[in-house]
Amino acid sequence: MNRRYRKTIIAGNWKMNKTISETRAFAEEIKPLIGRPKWCEVVLCVPFVNIPSAVRLFKDCRISIGAENCHYESHGAYTGEVTAEMLKEAGVKYVIIGHSERRQYYNETDITVNKKVHAALEAGLYPIVCVGESLEQRELGVTMELITYQVKAALSGVPADKMRHVVIAYEPIWAIGTGRTATAQQAGEVCEGIRAVIRKLYGARVARAVTIQYGGSMNADNAEELLAQPDVDGGLIGGASLKPASFVQIINAANQE
Ligand code: PGA
Repeated sequence: MNRRYRKTIIAGNWKMNKTISETRAFAEEIKPLIGRPKWCEVVLCVPFVNIPSAVRLFKDCRISIGAENCHYESHGAYTGEVTAEMLKEAGVKYVIIGHSERRQYYNETDITVNKKVHAALEAGLYPIVCVGESLEQRELGVTMELITYQVKAALSGVPADKMRHVVIAYEPIWAIGTGRTATAQQAGEVCEGIRAVIRKLYGARVARAVTIQYGGSMNADNAEELLAQPDVDGGLIGGASLKPASFVQIINAANQE
């Protein structure tokens, strides 16, 4: 983390978990534990149907609400989809774009990711853009080439003044939900590489201010070490965000003076 130049963001990604009543139970349990995180912003990205309740329930403990996806068009015949503007009006601040599960199971490509980033920014949302390599790609030695391509494609056409709304999440696919975390050094290296890509695209000032998260089996035990890396500005947390106690421990790791 480097709080002097950029925001630290701890974001939970609930994926396809928790009903509205479970969301309420989570809120009741986390409120007495969370305090007032001063040094980081806390976000929960929740399933679409939970959004209105989550916005209401977490308002007084200053947790921002995020969505897990959006469509890239502003309206139209896309049965089952949700626009960025709908999310904005529902009280959403962040939206995860291009999570590897969406790339894998729902055929999202770097092209649709780029369109969604534009749609999110247009609607006034903060996209959390996910990039990451598979184990095979890491073993081939092409991690940074691939990540560079993903970042450039996702940000294509995004002007510099919009970059203060963009968050990048480095999520190695082999570390997601596997309990196998990248080492702090691996996470730090790639996040540093991502910042270098942004520096080339937008210059040093923009690059310095962009929040770059790590995601992939981040938990209460490894958060502190990962967050100690200068270019790791927070986490995108799946499994460990489902329990208030472990999520609060990660927030605390990011919130130390
Ligand atoms: P995980 O998920 O923390 O359960 O590995 C992270 C993510 O997919 O964002």
